[in-house]
Amino acid sequence: MCGIVGYVGKRDIGPDVVLNGLRRLEYRGYDSAGIAIRYNPGQRTDEQYGHVIENWREVGGVDELYDSMPETVLWESNCAIGHTRWATHGEPSRHNAHPHTSMGRKVTLVHNGIIENYETLKKKLIQEGYVFESQTDTEVLANWIEYIWDNNTVDFVSAVRFALKDVVGAYAILVISPSTDSVIMARKSSPLAIGVGEGEFIIASDATPIVEYTKDIIYLEDDQLAVIEEGTNLRIMDLDATEVDPNIERVELELDQIEKGGYDSFMLKEIYEQPDTVWTCLRGRLTEGEEPLMMGGVESVLPQLLRANKIFIIACGTSWHAGLIGKNLIEKLTRIPVEVDYASEFRYKDPIIRPGDVVISISQSGETADTKAAMEMARERGATLFGVVNVVGSSIARMSDAGIYTHSGIEIGVASTKAFTGQVAALTLLAIKMARQLNSITDNDYLKLKAALKHIPGKIKSILADSEAIFEVASRYASEEYQDFLYLARGINFPVALEGALKLKEISYIHAEGYPAGEMKHGPIALIDENCPSVFIVPNDSSYGKVVSNMQEVKARKGKIVAIVTKGDELIKTIADDVIEIPETEELLTPLLTVIPLQLMSYSIATARGCNVDKPRNLAKSVTVE
Ligand code: F6R
Repeated sequence: MCGIVGYVGKRDIGPDVVLNGLRRLEYRGYDSAGIAIRYNPGQRTDEQYGHVIENWREVGGVDELYDSMPETVLWESNCAIGHTRWATHGEPSRHNAHPHTSMGRKVTLVHNGIIENYETLKKKLIQEGYVFESQTDTEVLANWIEYIWDNNTVDFVSAVRFALKDVVGAYAILVISPSTDSVIMARKSSPLAIGVGEGEFIIASDATPIVEYTKDIIYLEDDQLAVIEEGTNLRIMDLDATEVDPNIERVELELDQIEKGGYDSFMLKEIYEQPDTVWTCLRGRLTEGEEPLMMGGVESVLPQLLRANKIFIIACGTSWHAGLIGKNLIEKLTRIPVEVDYASEFRYKDPIIRPGDVVISISQSGETADTKAAMEMARERGATLFGVVNVVGSSIARMSDAGIYTHSGIEIGVASTKAFTGQVAALTLLAIKMARQLNSITDNDYLKLKAALKHIPGKIKSILADSEAIFEVASRYASEEYQDFLYLARGINFPVALEGALKLKEISYIHAEGYPAGEMKHGPIALIDENCPSVFIVPNDSSYGKVVSNMQEVKARKGKIVAIVTKGDELIKTIADDVIEIPETEELLTPLLTVIPLQLMSYSIATARGCNVDKPRNLAKSVTVE
């Protein structure tokens, strides 16, 4: 949700350093983009302040920004800050795009997050004669810093520190000024990473723009501010100016992980990575035979998990769907009651959390504001916090008492695919581990589930090997005559129906609804006609017979049917218009397979309709606002 990139150091930024960095962060927002370049006195001199800052902004992505910049732009500069925006305050427009400059031109900044008390600050600034050119909270912050600077005998760093103390909300900011060569950055609840290279610093919302230059990264903590002076000297402090020793981490991210590698989109690449990513999640944890599962991150809170009167799962979107599958797994295998809540609702429903309850938060990014806020409340009420997170070192991972990393690797496509299967794999391991400890699973079932889980990556691979057949089916549903889809399933595959529907609507803008197949007759059946296809997820499991009956109900109303079935199902071939086969597995593991054809179908329908699957309209990855 908004990406920020800055550079200060020995090299010329050229058209690549900051703009390519922003391109790597476009998955965080892409409705407008901007760059402010700071020139040294001598290169260009500002009569009033010394340095010249030139600011370029454009609606659209980074390519549109670059195309809008004149050929005369001087790229020989050692310092610039850039931004790619996901609009919160004010529509996407040049005025609302970042960087924002204060009225007196003393402060230019980029911001990710939301200044919640911006109205109050703005009112005060207007009284002081400030005029605003945008509708953003960010311009208020730029002016607030300038106002503090002008009205106190303080330096640039102190002005930013004092201004931030007045701010309520979330921010990751990068600030420059024409009157000094310092670059200031600070964070609260929005991520910010500082790459420390040889005589240079690359600052960004995450590591992806940085690893090209250095793998040594400092992740700024909440309420910390850092300043780079003269392009070389880095100091980190808290908002009271107490200096903090920098903690430099070596990141493992490789360049090929953040490139498309021959695929036409990140989404397709990430779908195809799933045999490996699911295996990476299982590897090392899934032991042989009777051996207990090796889950180091779980051990410290295992007693709490096993004793819990109730487990809450909180998450958003696709992660919430994984949570519903997690509920099925944990309840079936351990008989501990599980409640799944939307993180955005959790705080406001006054949840009944009792001592000894455990809250499992599921998040790919580990930065989702709704989930973080719900966790804070759960902590206040005494719950143990357990995280199922993909991004190592992210806020949710750090807020949790213990947890499991899904190890799905960086997910760049905005629509989540491999992160979902990683979450489901991790929750499956957790449920099996808990059940074994509680003796709520027979030896036989324990061994059977472990053996079947081991074969899941290979089975995902075999579905992907047949993707041409799935694309062929999808092509029959890509035309404009189909504007509504139903996704129907029962039991543990009902959340997969929700996920299939979400995937289709978010990347192809087709209306789709997931429903429990048995509920269809209680209302949604009214939608069925020849233009509203139903996608049934109907593997050979305990609800098979009932779902087949629901299919007959659709067929009787001339509804088209696509069915995801277990290989060799001859009955459904006589009912459905199109059939996609998945290999046989244990019922509890079927979501890891049934979701794959749904991802491929959505991808195929969206691309056939000319949609950009990596950057669906209005969306952004990592939703850091509530
Ligand atoms: C959909 C999607 C979103 C996220 C949701 C939560 O494809 O990706 O629904 O699942 O915004 O994000 P995380 O998992 O990062 O907390």
